[in-house]
Amino acid sequence: MKTIFVTGGAGYIGSHTVLLLLESGYRVKIYDNLSNSHLEAVKRIERLSGKSVEFIEGDIRDTDRVANALQGSSAVIHFAGVKAVGESVSNPLKYYDNNVLGTIELLKAMKQSEVKKMIFSSSASIYGNPQYLPIDEQHPINPTNPYGRSKFMLEQILRDIYDTNRGYSFGILRYFNPIGAHPSGEIGEDPQGIPNNLLPFITQVASGKLDKLRVFGNDYDTPDGTGVRDYIHVMDLAEGHLRMLEKLDDNSFDIYNLGTGRGYSVLQIIKTFEKVNGINIPYEIVSRRAGDVPVSYADVSKAQKELGWRAKRGLEDMCKDAWRWQLKNPKGYRSSM
Ligand code: NAD
Ligand code: UFG
Repeated sequence: MKTIFVTGGAGYIGSHTVLLLLESGYRVKIYDNLSNSHLEAVKRIERLSGKSVEFIEGDIRDTDRVANALQGSSAVIHFAGVKAVGESVSNPLKYYDNNVLGTIELLKAMKQSEVKKMIFSSSASIYGNPQYLPIDEQHPINPTNPYGRSKFMLEQILRDIYDTNRGYSFGILRYFNPIGAHPSGEIGEDPQGIPNNLLPFITQVASGKLDKLRVFGNDYDTPDGTGVRDYIHVMDLAEGHLRMLEKLDDNSFDIYNLGTGRGYSVLQIIKTFEKVNGINIPYEIVSRRAGDVPVSYADVSKAQKELGWRAKRGLEDMCKDAWRWQLKNPKGYRSSM
């Protein structure tokens, strides 16, 4: 049985992926500093899967600790990182330190332990303002903030390592907008403080924690004037990692967009959430949020063709599952403390 080393495995996307790995017969070691997650997520993954996970609390910048923990693993899925676009503008060093330096230390540890396979969490934010749609993997790269730049720097670093060392295999996955939760409502996204992203904000408005949603702009060149994104169910995203893992061989470098290929506007998201959950979402239109692109959605044909993967869940499932998670866990993982 293969052991997969999952950095950031207690976090939002990591926890859903770890659950699928266990259900698919892999052994898993989670390495996470819990800076944006809770041990409770790991307990729930164990409960849902009926299997145990080795959890190591640590920072990816601690090279020796990572190298020790890596022993016996056949591949790394690397989710650990910081991800708030706005914070990356006000505190870029945090992003270069955690994401870029952190990944470099992880790569050194992998070299020491002779682990040569990695799946890396990249982001659609590296494309910047789309020059054409849908966005394919050949689209020019032009990140507009330090978070996006940290991801692109890392893609280049991985490419350089691949080019100069035999036997490495890298799978780079550029996620579009992951939302939703496991259908059990046991694991999901648990942002600290007031959420930045649309869906967590909507679920907190729905639960009465926040009084209304602010829709950032209705004057974009889109059908209803509000921003359009490619929202993907986190379980579909997790399945994409399994397909990528199966494809990693002893010498490969691949990049894939993971999205649905469909764009939805903010108002469409609100309407769908209201309809499937029977809840009213009060909102007001405010000015555009600095740095937002008008429209972004993926060309997913490469992942379909080469990974045999495509997103199966629709927007209604995403909205229902996000709400079930919020209802069962009004204070996120803190609800069970
Ligand atoms: P998350 O914050 O829920 O998970 C990240 C996990 O990494 C957390 O458990 C955190 O505690 C851990 N971590 C952070 N820094 C660490 C460090 N130095 N050492 C050890 N552990 C550390 O985020 P997520 O939404 O699950 O995102 C996972 C990855 O996917 C990130 O790299 C993120 O940049 C990328 N990504 C996310 C999105 C999104 O919208 N959620 C979109 C594109 C890309
Ligand atoms: N929006 C609102 N009100 C809110 C929050 C968001 O109207 O309170 C709008 C935004 O203007 C945008 C859409 O909802 O049109 C989606 O916004 P999110 O903040 O949920 O997502 P982004 O597309 O801005 O960014 C997300 C992640 C990034 C990632 C990017 C691409 O936050 O880390 O998707 O993967 F890089």
